Amino acid sequence: MKLFIDSANVVDIKKAYKVGVLSGVTTNPSLVAKEGVKFEDRIEEILKLVPKVESVSAEVTPDAVTAEEMIAQAEELIKINNYDKNITIKLPMTLDGLEACRYLADKGIKTNVTLIFTVNQALLAARAGATYVSPFLGRLDDISEDGVQLVVKIAELFRIHNLDAQIIAASVRHPDHVTRVAMAGAHIATVPFSVIEQISKHPLTDQGLEKFAADWKKAVKG
Ligand code: E4P
Repeated sequence: MKLFIDSANVVDIKKAYKVGVLSGVTTNPSLVAKEGVKFEDRIEEILKLVPKVESVSAEVTPDAVTAEEMIAQAEELIKINNYDKNITIKLPMTLDGLEACRYLADKGIKTNVTLIFTVNQALLAARAGATYVSPFLGRLDDISEDGVQLVVKIAELFRIHNLDAQIIAASVRHPDHVTRVAMAGAHIATVPFSVIEQISKHPLTDQGLEKFAADWKKAVKG
């Protein structure tokens, strides 16, 4: 399973990229709004920061409601990247979003259909030519449903029917989500930097390091 960072914060994106574990970045209107910067400027900045990743998802803004409006925004976003391959247009899971997805997919532009909460929505997005589909685990858990089970089912569906879309497990809140979606067959988990930090740690790693340091100090002192 690949790891994307779910963030529009340049400091966090830089930190994760430097570690060398990143395959992509996802953003959404809420994440960009938190940064208080112009959307297109931030996307351009991110694209420059992470030149070697496979995908940077830039979401059409909530004022694009019709397929035509989404396509018009997508065409502007693609220009930011000078038509390079790592920009991915993120589209909402609506009929208009699917229509825009089919249009862009036929033009060879990568797409990520977001806000997926059912297997049927994932099936529709895959059939509309989506490169990525994004089921939101945490938000399902928030309403007492099992978000990981949705990923398990989508992975099975894609396997049975040989669908090419990659599953991005999104709305990932903690380390256990990461392990479980990896074992469920998600192709990608998109996670905040805090989760990348958390999954790098274990108390026994810290204790082990402390013991190595103490033993080393004793040996050096003689
Ligand atoms: C994914 O692409 C979304 O940006 C994201 O994972 C949403 O997560 P949230 O439910 O924590 O807002």
